[in-house]
Amino acid sequence: MGTDDERMTFRVWRGDRQGGAFVDYTTSVAPGMVVLDAIHQIQAEQANDLAVRWNCKAGKCGSCSAEVNGTPKLMCMTRLSELPQDKPITVEPMRAFPPIRDLVTDVSWNFAVKKQIKPFQPRAPDAADGTWRMAQSDVDRVQEFRKCIECFLCQDVCHVLREHHLHEEFIGPRFLVHVAALEMHPLDVENRVEELRRAHGIGYCNITKCCTKVCPEHITITDNAIIPLKERVVDEFFHPLGQLVKLFRS
Ligand code: SF4
Ligand code: SF4
Ligand code: FES
Repeated sequence: MGTDDERMTFRVWRGDRQGGAFVDYTTSVAPGMVVLDAIHQIQAEQANDLAVRWNCKAGKCGSCSAEVNGTPKLMCMTRLSELPQDKPITVEPMRAFPPIRDLVTDVSWNFAVKKQIKPFQPRAPDAADGTWRMAQSDVDRVQEFRKCIECFLCQDVCHVLREHHLHEEFIGPRFLVHVAALEMHPLDVENRVEELRRAHGIGYCNITKCCTKVCPEHITITDNAIIPLKERVVDEFFHPLGQLVKLFRS
């Protein structure tokens, strides 16, 4: 992509819940362009009715999630120069969720899942003035989970949702990150381990790490969130000492 008059072909999925097909659009490209720029240009010049969701164009709102050449990506953060130039670039909606139109999917299932997770419940304040004391190392541990922009690219790539459609039984990597942020929060006193095993379906995750690979915020989803949560489930439900503690609690 060295000159301003270079052209590239984009194979864009057009359709809705009833079905659809890829349509080729050829448009001019320039150095520095991202996939979202090309889609906007196609929308402006050739397909005014092409539906695409976006907001910040800075990788922070999580709205422009799609699949570019078959890989879950933020369209606004995917430079054309990263993609092979010799064949059409495919751009399609996330496949783990129902399509609404063209590149826009219905991600409302995720918001319903979030409501099922027990909210933050802090312990009583540590000081008379209503403040708490926390060790910096405990704060650092959960900090990366707070970077999530809810783009749902990790949910899209996870085979438990994408291929096995276990949306009723598994909350997916995004919400395991959310549970980890709450469970490891130094002030939180709620216990979500029982739900993790049953309602949240953590056992379905077989640690393939596909979710970690696509996260645009580089959150170490599997190693830092899911594996420690799995360890908590094992400790509480399958370790003899954990079972003894449960017996005393009941
Ligand atoms: S590591 Fe687990 S949550 Fe992540 S994609 Fe694989 S199965 Fe899904
Ligand atoms: S964990 Fe990463 S990939 Fe998943 S929703 Fe959050 S930012 Fe997106
Ligand atoms: S438009 Fe906001 S993340 Fe891409």
